[in-house]
Amino acid sequence: AATPTGCPVSRRAAEFDPFEDGYQQDPPEYVRWAREQEPVFYSPKLGYWVVTRYEDIKAIFRDNLTFSPSIALEKITPTGPEANEVLASYGYAMNRTLVNEDEPAHMPRRRALMDPFTPEALMHHEPMVRHLAREYVDRFIDDGKADLVDQMLWEVPLTVALHFLGVPEEDMDTLRKYSIAHTVNTWGRPKPEEQVEVAHAVGKFWQFAGKVLDKMRQDPDGPGWMQYGIRKQKELPDVVTDSYLHSMMMAGIVAAHETTANATANAMKLLLQHPQAWRDICEDPSLIPNAVEECLRHNGSVAAWRRLATRDVTVGGIDIPAGSKLLIVMSSANHDEHQFADADLFDIRRENASDQLTFGYGSHQCMGKNLARMEMQIFLEEFTRRLPHMRLAEQRFTYVPNTSFRGPEHVFVEWDPALNPERVDP
Ligand code: HEM
Repeated sequence: AATPTGCPVSRRAAEFDPFEDGYQQDPPEYVRWAREQEPVFYSPKLGYWVVTRYEDIKAIFRDNLTFSPSIALEKITPTGPEANEVLASYGYAMNRTLVNEDEPAHMPRRRALMDPFTPEALMHHEPMVRHLAREYVDRFIDDGKADLVDQMLWEVPLTVALHFLGVPEEDMDTLRKYSIAHTVNTWGRPKPEEQVEVAHAVGKFWQFAGKVLDKMRQDPDGPGWMQYGIRKQKELPDVVTDSYLHSMMMAGIVAAHETTANATANAMKLLLQHPQAWRDICEDPSLIPNAVEECLRHNGSVAAWRRLATRDVTVGGIDIPAGSKLLIVMSSANHDEHQFADADLFDIRRENASDQLTFGYGSHQCMGKNLARMEMQIFLEEFTRRLPHMRLAEQRFTYVPNTSFRGPEHVFVEWDPALNPERVDP
């Protein structure tokens, strides 16, 4: 095999397949060879250039003119004609939002929509998040076992996302199905027979998003981020377009929900696999914010992201022609020894943990990062206070195969309810 520039492809580059279990289980380990020996390589199976080192990835994030984010939400596995017909039958027209919008359109829109993410604005959501976290823990605290994902970590961030966006709380189960389908549709490799089913779910998700948006337009004074966008549209119709609003109504749910649900599931798995770190945060909750940061570094929920080279360019000494697609593996950057001393070590006191690139970097860096951090901190505060004696049950962790969104489908935990602190010392 050869790269598009005619260079030979190494054996490991030829074998690289992000839909394989090896990548799903541990992306930074799966590309360790690349990070150490061939930091930028062409993957013939994927048709992408894969970038694995911290410095190169940060430089790519920094230059969003040379490295356009326009393909961030493009289907990584093109769908067949049948699935495309199904999508068309629903009027599916997912378009640019923010994350995949180029300049000069992106920055004015980002600025116009930023206010609901300020620390003061986010503070208003804290009681809602804490209330939800407590209510869900109440439901299983006396059981002695739980699947943290099924019984809490999937639904609570979804509900928070809906509140944040301003969506009524109904239709949760349907939404849950839809958002999974959207992930597979965008970042996964569904088989031809699955594609049609996924396309139906995505089409329905799209239509549902349109209906919710219409409802919001009737009552645009609500506190949600979408209502904020509807109000901004009156002032700046060319910046906050109809296409943006409908696309964000759907993409926003996924952006705020799955990323955070997966991040917390990854964090709980990691912390419980490191009993000393878990004991430390149980004893001293002031360690939680940095522990969250270290979890996002060591085992983040967005493993990789995409950019399109708009001109001939050199990355890490490798010439990449204009029009090339890049898979930038932030989870690998986060384990780069040049940036993080003893990078594979999980250290909740690590001083530069917040240099992690899980939220991206630069002009497109995640707008919701502080909402996500607040949620994760609150979940950990509640778990450590109420279930400090929780441990992982025997299990093999499974992941939904895709390049980017990563978190275990289940996290089974167990504990002795007779030892619950609120029973022992009510
Ligand atoms: C963008 C990750 C939670 C809203 C992004 C990007 C990543 C990301 C990787 C692209 C960054 C880039 O291109 O440089 C995450 C992770 C989360 C999370 C790991 C949770 C742990 C949230 C939440 C929201 C949100 C809760 C709330 C609505 C957004 C938006 C953008 C974005 C609006 C687009 C920003 C732009 O392009 O200007 N996020 N995200 N995210 N995220 Fe998040």
